[in-house]
Amino acid sequence: MKVAVMTGGGDSPGMNAFIRAVVRSCLNLKPSTSVWGVIDGWRGLVDGNFRKLTKKDTAGIAHQGGTILGTLRVPELKEDKDMQEACAFNLHDNFFDYLFLCGGNGSLAAANVINNIIKSKGLRTKILVAPGSIDNDVCNNYGYSIGFYSAIDKSLEMLEWIRDTASAHRRVYIIESMGRDSGYLAFFAGVATGAEHIILPNDEVNYEELVNLISERDRDTRIIVAEGYPKTADEIRRILEEIFARRNIKHEIRHVDMGYFQRGGKAAVKDILTASWLGYVMVKDAFNGVDSAFYICYHPGEEPTRLPLDVAADSSKTTHLNIPDNLKEFEEALR
Ligand code: F6P
Repeated sequence: MKVAVMTGGGDSPGMNAFIRAVVRSCLNLKPSTSVWGVIDGWRGLVDGNFRKLTKKDTAGIAHQGGTILGTLRVPELKEDKDMQEACAFNLHDNFFDYLFLCGGNGSLAAANVINNIIKSKGLRTKILVAPGSIDNDVCNNYGYSIGFYSAIDKSLEMLEWIRDTASAHRRVYIIESMGRDSGYLAFFAGVATGAEHIILPNDEVNYEELVNLISERDRDTRIIVAEGYPKTADEIRRILEEIFARRNIKHEIRHVDMGYFQRGGKAAVKDILTASWLGYVMVKDAFNGVDSAFYICYHPGEEPTRLPLDVAADSSKTTHLNIPDNLKEFEEALR
């Protein structure tokens, strides 16, 4: 059997553990397998850029952030039929029986399109996808995406640093979090640090009430804003400053973006183990000839949920990017 492994979309800690698990499981369970890495993610698949991987290539990488294979975004792939066909034929023409992919929402959507081309043209490759994204925007009905817990860890550390300086200066900090359309990262980071307020993508913020909350604070106030909220942290700062001026409130306000720092660095144990477990299960399934699928699990060691790619990629059925009410109540109860 010949297989390829690839990472797509934004890098997320745990992707390297996934690559390692696929390479090692293939070569240890069936040494005749040849495993190839797709270089630079979707760019490499469009161009047919593959490199053979050995166990040595994956030594000591499981905990490392980023991805040793690279991941370049190719936004045109969403619409460009030629590029989509190139991906399908590059897999088929290179005799890959399986592609193991770890990526987020965009990667899942692209995998589904390419899988449909493969099926309609009778090509050979099947695609198995694991959720990899700090946004947790792929699978939140069923589990958590690889990299999500690592990004919460990083956020928590940064939010505690900000608490120190906010408290020292009696300041309000408006802190932007990555997450694209999903509020999960901002929300869980906010809960973990005990932020005074979290603004989610679809929130209708009553700024006068927010100022009431701030004016009751003695020293530090940290307001976390999800990337998907239509106003930036800087715009929110200006709105609050206007209200402060009108109401003669003296707190200073600063804003800061956690952004790319949330995505880098060492992977959390949960992400390393989930990525490794999913990689291993997917390889075993491939040896049994499983059809293309999307894999999710909560805990390493448990049987993953396997969804057909078209079901998984249908966001109206499988994802709800809004935080459920029970989690919102939980957050309010801890304030
Ligand atoms: O999908 C992961 C993510 O980090 C999002 O949270 C963010 O919106 C986006 O990627 C940023 O992408 P780029 O690295 O292309 O700027």
